[in-house]
Amino acid sequence: MCGIVGYLGDRQAYDILIKGLKRLEYRGYDSAGVAMIDEGDFRLFKCKGKVSDLEDSIGSNIKTGNVGIGHTRWATHGPPNDVNAHPHLSNDGSLVLIHNGIIENYASLKAELINRGHTFKSDTDTEVLVHFIEDIRDKTGANLFDSVRIALSEVIGAYAIVILDKSNPNQMIAARKSSPLVIGVGKDNEFFIASDATPIIEYTRNVVYLEDEEIARLDRTDGLKIVTISNQHKDPYVQELEMKLEAIEKGGYDSFMLKEIHEQPRSINDSIRGRMSLATGAVRMSGVDEHEDRWNKATRILIVACGTSWHAGLVAEYLFEEFARIPVEVEYASEFRYRNPVIYPTDVVIAISQSGETADTLAAIEMAKDKGAFIFGVCNVVGSSIARATHSGAYTHAGPEIGVASTKAFTAQVSVLYLLALSVAMHRGVMKQDRLNRLMAELNSVPEKIAEVLKTNEDVKKIAAIYKDSTNALYLGRGYSFPVALEGALKLKEISYIHAEGYPAAEMKHGPIALIDENMPVFVIATQGASYEKVVSNIQEVKARKGNIIAIVTEGDKVVKDLADHVIEIPKSDDSLVPLISVIPLQLLSYHVAVMRGCNVDQPRNLAKSVTVE
Ligand code: M6R
Repeated sequence: MCGIVGYLGDRQAYDILIKGLKRLEYRGYDSAGVAMIDEGDFRLFKCKGKVSDLEDSIGSNIKTGNVGIGHTRWATHGPPNDVNAHPHLSNDGSLVLIHNGIIENYASLKAELINRGHTFKSDTDTEVLVHFIEDIRDKTGANLFDSVRIALSEVIGAYAIVILDKSNPNQMIAARKSSPLVIGVGKDNEFFIASDATPIIEYTRNVVYLEDEEIARLDRTDGLKIVTISNQHKDPYVQELEMKLEAIEKGGYDSFMLKEIHEQPRSINDSIRGRMSLATGAVRMSGVDEHEDRWNKATRILIVACGTSWHAGLVAEYLFEEFARIPVEVEYASEFRYRNPVIYPTDVVIAISQSGETADTLAAIEMAKDKGAFIFGVCNVVGSSIARATHSGAYTHAGPEIGVASTKAFTAQVSVLYLLALSVAMHRGVMKQDRLNRLMAELNSVPEKIAEVLKTNEDVKKIAAIYKDSTNALYLGRGYSFPVALEGALKLKEISYIHAEGYPAAEMKHGPIALIDENMPVFVIATQGASYEKVVSNIQEVKARKGNIIAIVTEGDKVVKDLADHVIEIPKSDDSLVPLISVIPLQLLSYHVAVMRGCNVDQPRNLAKSVTVE
C-alpha cells in the first residue's frame, strides 16, 4: 500500500527520497512523487507508474533541497494518474503533503472548502486534507504544528501524513492514526521518516515509532517534539532497530520472492529457536506462560486474519483442536468485524498478520478487546500496530518479507502457531510427554527437510514450463493439506494471474469436478497419512475425467506415482507438519510459472504488501 519517505538535514534530500521510495516499492503502488524545498519554493515532481518512471520524467530538472518528502500511491480515491499522485499542494501552494490511508469525511470537508473559495485539481481525499490544514492555519493564525493538530481533530479516518511549509525549510510535521510512521533520528537534528524502517536503516538505527493520534514536529534547531491530538506532550521513545541491511536486499537472487522461498530453513529455525527444548521436553512461549489462566480457562479460540495469514489460521485450527482439544473458529477479519459476532470474555482471539498493519485485522482486534476477550498476536513486524494492540503475542522472526506474495511469513506463522498449540496443550495437561517430545523433535527437523525439498527446484521448473499457459488450475488437499491447497492456489493466482481455486479434495465432486478436462492441471497434496487412501480415490476421479495430476507425495510413494502425470517427492513427516513442507514446491511452482509468463513476481499488479485500508 502507499509508502511515505521524508528527509530533513544537511544532505541532498532527493537521492535519499528516491532510494527510500525504491525500498518501499514492495508495498505495491501505481504512482510516485517527491517534493523538496529549495530557495523558498517547492520542487515538486510526480507521475503515474514506477519510481523509475518518476526519475525519467524528472531527468535533468533541478531537484536540489535539504528537506523533502516522497510518496508511492496505491489508488483509493480517483484513478492512478499524474494528477492524483502525491504530494499534493494546498490552495495557495504554500504547503505540500503526502498521505497514506483514507479520510472518510473528505466529501463534506471538500464541499465546505469549495464554499470558502478553494479549488481542487485531483480526485483525492489527500488534497482536501492539505487544503483543510491551510484553511485552519489562515483562519486561526496558528503555526503549522497547531494547525495540523486542530485539523486532525476534525478528521475521520486513517492517516499517516507528512507536511512541509515552503517558507520553513527547517521543519517537517508528521502525524499518524492507524497507519504506521517511523522517525529515524540521526546526529545533530537530522531526521528521516518513513512508513517502515526499510528506507531508514542505512542511515541510522535510532528510531521512534509514532503512536496513534500523535503529531511530531521535526526541527533542525529544536529537535523532535511530539504531542497528541488533544495536545498532551509525549516524550519521544528512541529505540534501536534490529533489522539488518542485508535482510532487505536481494542477496544474489533474481527476486525477493525467490530469496524468501530459499530462506525458509533459516527463518523457521529463527521462529522456533529458544521456544522449545528437546533436552527438558518443554515448550516455552512467554505469551502462554504469563497468561496461563486465560489460556487454561479458554472455552474457545477465535482466529482472525486475512489472505495467507488466514490460511495459516486454518492450519492452526487443526493444530489446536488436535493437540489442545479447544474448539476453534477461523474468521476472515473483514467479515468478522461487521457481523456482530458473539464474543465471550472467556474467548482467546489469535490475530495473525505478517505486516501487523492490516486494517481489517486491527479493527477485529479492537472489537474483540471491547468485549473482554484475551487477544494474542502473531506478527512478523516488530513494533507494528497489531503487535501493540494485542494483550500478548509472539513474533514470528521471519525477517523482513519484501515480496508481495507471502512465503516465509506463512511458514513462520505456522511454526509459531504449532509451538503455541503445543504449549497450550502442555499447560492444559492434555498432551502426553512422549508425544510432545516426538512432535518437538519432528518440528526441529523441518528446516532440514525443507532444504531437501528446495533441491527439487529444477524438477518443479520443468513442471511449471508444461503448465505455464494454463488458464485455470485446481488445488486439492484434505485435513492439514486443505489450507495448503488454498495457499497454493492463492500463490499461483496472485503472481501469475492464472485463475486457481483450492478445495478440500472430497468437495470436488460437489461442483468443481465439472471443470475437469484434459486442459485442467490439478495439484494434489497426496502425502502418506490419515487421509492418504481417500486422496488416492480423489486422484482416480480426476484421472477418469482426463485431468492432469501433479501430486506432492511422500518420498518413495508408488501408488500415486503410477496414477499421476508428475510427482514431487517430499520427506516423510507427521501429518501436522506436512503444511510446512508441502507448501514449498507450490511456492516454487507459482514463482516459475509467473517468471515464464513475464510477470513481476515481487510486485504483482493491483496488490499491496500491507493492506492498511479496509
Ligand atoms: O500482513 P498480513 O499478514 O496481515 O496480510 C494479510 C494479507 O494481505 C496477506 O497475507 C496476503 O494475502 C499475502 N501477501 C498474499 O501472498
